Amino acid sequence: MIIGCLISGRGSNLEAILRAIERGTLTASVRIVISNRPDVPGLHHATSRAIETAVVRPADYADREDYDRALAQRLRTAGVDTVVLAGFDRIVTSALLHQFPNRVVNIHPALLPAFPGLHAQRQALQHGARITGVTVHLVDEQVDHGPILGQIAVAVREDDTEATLAARILEEEHRLFPAVLQRMADGRLHIDGRRVQGGLP
Ligand code: GRF
Repeated sequence: MIIGCLISGRGSNLEAILRAIERGTLTASVRIVISNRPDVPGLHHATSRAIETAVVRPADYADREDYDRALAQRLRTAGVDTVVLAGFDRIVTSALLHQFPNRVVNIHPALLPAFPGLHAQRQALQHGARITGVTVHLVDEQVDHGPILGQIAVAVREDDTEATLAARILEEEHRLFPAVLQRMADGRLHIDGRRVQGGLP
């Protein structure tokens, strides 16, 4: 499986994926890492391993579709077959999705369909949820909506702040993302509408 990673910031999920590959628990390679923002820390996880990086700036494109066509072009040129959104803070359109049908994957720090969108950990706390977690899902045209490939639950503690909850969820993100990608690499995921055979747990 040849992965192209899209990031916007810290890149800890990218790092977890790269470490899983290095450990041999994920049989894939990351061929290119693209950020929509310049100089983000996540890019260093790629450059330090001599993985190709690119910054593709939305301001250089007329609209979302135009931008996504440019992304798809870069990913295709790099030989990517699977696109991993690892903290990519943009909505992607069909201009990208049609180029990689059922091969664009996202991670979200809540148990979807609960708490989609921004600040999912804050939403869970404010709602008084006792259980939240992490979801890895296929991307479709709606935000945080596509078929669910894997989930892990995380209990909310009464003394949790947004930061402590986010940190515990992040640990599970780093476990779940490489594990789900390995299932994809093995061809064990079968998509039937919204339902997925072979996902996690
Ligand atoms: C993660 O919490 C992820 O679930 C969300 O954005 C955050 C990205 O973190 N989509 P990082 O850049 O991978 O460290």
